[in-house]
Amino acid sequence: MRITVCLSDNNRPEPWVEGLRRELPQAEIQIWTPGAALADHAVVWAPPQQFLDEQQQLRGLFNIGAGVDALLNLRLPPHTRIVRLDDAGMSVQMVEYVCHALIRHFREFDVYEADAREGVWSYRRPRARRDFPVGVMGLGVLGERVGHAIAQFEFPVQGWSRSPRQIDGIRCFDGDQGLDGFLAASRVLVCLLPLTAQTRGILNRETLSRLHGGRPGGYLINVARGAHLMEQDLIPLLDAGQLAGAALDVFASEPLAPEHPFWRHPKITVTPHASARTQREESVAQIAAKIRALEAGADFDTLPGVVDVQRGY
Ligand code: NAP
Ligand code: GLV
Repeated sequence: MRITVCLSDNNRPEPWVEGLRRELPQAEIQIWTPGAALADHAVVWAPPQQFLDEQQQLRGLFNIGAGVDALLNLRLPPHTRIVRLDDAGMSVQMVEYVCHALIRHFREFDVYEADAREGVWSYRRPRARRDFPVGVMGLGVLGERVGHAIAQFEFPVQGWSRSPRQIDGIRCFDGDQGLDGFLAASRVLVCLLPLTAQTRGILNRETLSRLHGGRPGGYLINVARGAHLMEQDLIPLLDAGQLAGAALDVFASEPLAPEHPFWRHPKITVTPHASARTQREESVAQIAAKIRALEAGADFDTLPGVVDVQRGY
């Protein structure tokens, strides 16, 4: 069995090759270069089109991230199956990020930090959690765990998914017909959707104005993909007070340009696509276990994280 590794965006392939060699000693593992020998499986992040055009016989394309939107923009070999990371250490990071952003906003810690810089001793009036219901868009591997963590802090939590779900402690909405009720019941909105034709631009003037029954003071946490947000709609909503703030980890164009107004807007917190980073050791172990299962005769459809290309995630 031959496995080829093709990583872009400053991901060094060598440590992945070493890890895969340790986990799969019987396999031949190589770093892809143009014209390299044909492989059975590939471990990839944003590979060039030339890679896929050459490696037409691949059985499995193992993405070292959870989101496969970039991969699905490429022309794929006809019989190759895509497998994404299934958690692999990401969900706990998402929990940290989202709970931190939510609690920082709810408890007004930014105001205390500003006061502390001026040596001001002053209390904010306590706020009630029932006035800050949180809506999680996407109840998959990451969204469901984030929803449970928020519920542990005793905020009312609702979630929205494509298909109907029943989850203890989370009020579930689904589909286009469920979106209205979901938005109306949510003051803080967390986006953990995959980027697909249906979800692109879903965070826009119209949907964000429907938060909390149209009342002012909504808050947005986007940790999914930048293209979920219509960026030009955000600052007018913040300046009008319809939204009280936003924590953004992802952007339509990354890295975010130094002159982008999001960096300096007082109600926007920017992080550099850092909410949940790929954990190499856990990811190598997960990918190797899946390749071992396939080599032992398992069907792709039995593996967690197999992508449905038609659905887009
Ligand atoms: P997942 O397990 O595939 O979950 C996706 C969820 O979104 C599912 O609940 C799905 O509904 C729902 N969904 C999809 N299309 C929908 C639609 N049209 N309407 C309503 N709900 C829809 O994905 P995941 O592992 O949780 O990851 C989610 C996304 O997070 C990734 O795609 C990636 O873009 C992003 N991410 C970002 C970072 C970062 O560092 N910022 C890190 C990791 C991942 P069903 O349950 O009905 O299928
Ligand atoms: C990161 O954004 C990922 O999709 O894993």
